[in-house]
Amino acid sequence: MRKAIIAGNWKMNKTPAEAAALVNELKPLVADASCDVVVCVPAVDFAAVKEAAAGSNIHLGAQNVHWAASGAFTGELSADMLVAAGVEYVVIGHSERRQYFGETDATVNKRVQAAVAAGLKVILCVGELKEEREAGYTDALVEYQTLIALTGLTNEQVAEVIVAYEPVWAIGTGLTATDEQANETIGVIRKALARKYGQDIADKVRIQYGGSMNPKNVKGLMAQPEIDGGLIGGASLKAPDFSLVVNYDK
Ligand code: PGA
Repeated sequence: MRKAIIAGNWKMNKTPAEAAALVNELKPLVADASCDVVVCVPAVDFAAVKEAAAGSNIHLGAQNVHWAASGAFTGELSADMLVAAGVEYVVIGHSERRQYFGETDATVNKRVQAAVAAGLKVILCVGELKEEREAGYTDALVEYQTLIALTGLTNEQVAEVIVAYEPVWAIGTGLTATDEQANETIGVIRKALARKYGQDIADKVRIQYGGSMNPKNVKGLMAQPEIDGGLIGGASLKAPDFSLVVNYDK
């Protein structure tokens, strides 16, 4: 019912020349994908990726967006700027932004509202730290992160948001949540959405798993009923690996 979506999160990797080379290598390998394919790239790579991906099924994403339309916010990019650069998707609230750059649930919400208003498709990241899982707070935390982030959106807008459940302890560590753990926590997020927005809307929201997803574990994760895709860091930086994740069903 929900179309799967596999998105690469390149983080702070690839110059424009390297970005173009990666996309050119990727294009033929993912041309027959049955899922939506997105690469979320550094802003300096937008133009190169847009040009290299032209005419293909690879969609362009950004890794953050500011909430203001313009103004004195040195180093930031507005949603309209991203749209003008040909960006379609934007990652918001990634745990690295929360850990290293002071992102809070309140600023995540402001960014989500601005992105949606500009017509961007949001990939909203939520997830617990290792200590939070061990203390038994995972469910409460991901519910809270998700619902706060979506405050102010209409039901129709919520239905279009993509949520990425990324347990922080699984990001870049080689540790993955088990298929069942990931499915269970994503189910918790969907139930929270159903309580607040109704089952119809909750059934439309695509929820990805992220955290050391790779060619080896993708099939098991994607076989879980609640998991609608992946947000892929390390394994998105090499075309053969990313294409194997994208083609998980082949
Ligand atoms: P990883 O990163 O696949 O390298 O664990 C995922 C992410 O941070 O989105």
